[in-house]
Amino acid sequence: MNVLILGSGGREHAIGWKIAQSNLLSQLYIAPGNAGTKEVGTNLDLNPTDFPALKETILSKNIELVVVGPEDPLVKGVSDFILNNDELKNTLVIGPEKYAAQLEGSKEFAKEFMYRHNIPTAAYKSFTVKNLEEGYNFLETLKAPYVLKADGLAAGKGVLILNNLAEAKQELKEMLTEQKFGEASSKVVIEEFLTGIELSCFVLTDGKSYVTLPSAKDYKRIGEEDKGLNTGGMGAVSPVPFLSDELMQQIDAKVIKPTINGFQKDNINYVGFVFIGLIYDKGEVKVIEYNCRMGDPETEVVIPRLESDFLELLIAAGKKELAGKTVKFKNESACTVMLVSGGYPEAYEKGKEIFGTETVSESIVFHAGTKEENGKVVTNGGRVIAITSFGEDFKEALKQSYNSIEKICFEKMNYRTDIGFDL
Ligand code: AMP
Ligand code: GLY
Repeated sequence: MNVLILGSGGREHAIGWKIAQSNLLSQLYIAPGNAGTKEVGTNLDLNPTDFPALKETILSKNIELVVVGPEDPLVKGVSDFILNNDELKNTLVIGPEKYAAQLEGSKEFAKEFMYRHNIPTAAYKSFTVKNLEEGYNFLETLKAPYVLKADGLAAGKGVLILNNLAEAKQELKEMLTEQKFGEASSKVVIEEFLTGIELSCFVLTDGKSYVTLPSAKDYKRIGEEDKGLNTGGMGAVSPVPFLSDELMQQIDAKVIKPTINGFQKDNINYVGFVFIGLIYDKGEVKVIEYNCRMGDPETEVVIPRLESDFLELLIAAGKKELAGKTVKFKNESACTVMLVSGGYPEAYEKGKEIFGTETVSESIVFHAGTKEENGKVVTNGGRVIAITSFGEDFKEALKQSYNSIEKICFEKMNYRTDIGFDL
């Protein structure tokens, strides 16, 4: 089977790395990919949201399965485009259609879905510029901290957590009247603040059946001890050490099953990954968010732990034949540490030569923001490389990643030295 992965991050490198190990694979393409994906397949100079160019590529390369990595093409309808096109309709697609991708693309849509299907989540109300005053009144009924969420996609920046009421009102006003996050904040969801520890679950579904992939926990803040600005993710561990079998059963019964049943009840055609962000406190879990794709850097720890043939699972999902499939994964822990460009998540420079990756043998080097230029591998983004290692437990795995990192360098390289500090 010829496969095309859309995207260019560490997630796409990890997905490609695993698919490349399958006997079912003929040709693997990644669009646009990075300097690492070139090692597992062929990079194509194609923008994943340029649908006419995508169609041409699918036809010319005989692509039979498209795996959509990031949310943007999904929210823009890439799956609908492929599945509804007469010439492409035999192509399998991993990634939900536009309507279903609203689970990530609209916080309000996700909240309404959870309420409709009795899935535990924080209490909320949503507001637009038309009922700003009601928004102020609602804030007054809540206790600090206040959680404000831009309804639409805001590149991970649309959630504000504020400690004081006046500030929360001011931010609400800026989001709604000054479009602080552009069109994404023309509607704002205000939510009850939840305390607890976060973890994530991942399922691959064909809309009716599903398989649960390993759990993971990521570290989003740039600074040690979870301080400073939010990033795409600075590291991750899998499994989540405090996730007992009993808690997993609770998550399955109260969150995963009702989610998949919800797709059926709502007639939602959902083929792809569901990334469920959870918060756990006093024996109970609540859903913080859904994403309609795998996480990054969570994929860099979840996928290496899979022992099953990943491509076989993806084909089964695409054909809606997941029923009865099971997944096997390694008992070992995996962890990843992200090497980022100095300055990230604010302004940073690109084009710095990366040294030493070829000397790493005890860890897996997943490329994120990298590209090849005149035979050299250089930085090409904020998050540059994820270093994944295995260990008996997450501490051993982390130790190995930090050892491997000593062999790599580029100008102004930065990373967190305390991944897993709270476990
Ligand atoms: P989201 O984009 O919805 O995942 O929110 C981003 C981050 O904000 C989450 O990973 C949490 O750390 C935090 N967060 C979101 N919603 C809440 C909430 N209701 N209570 C506490 N923290 C939250
Ligand atoms: N690491 C968080 C995300 O992929 O959304």
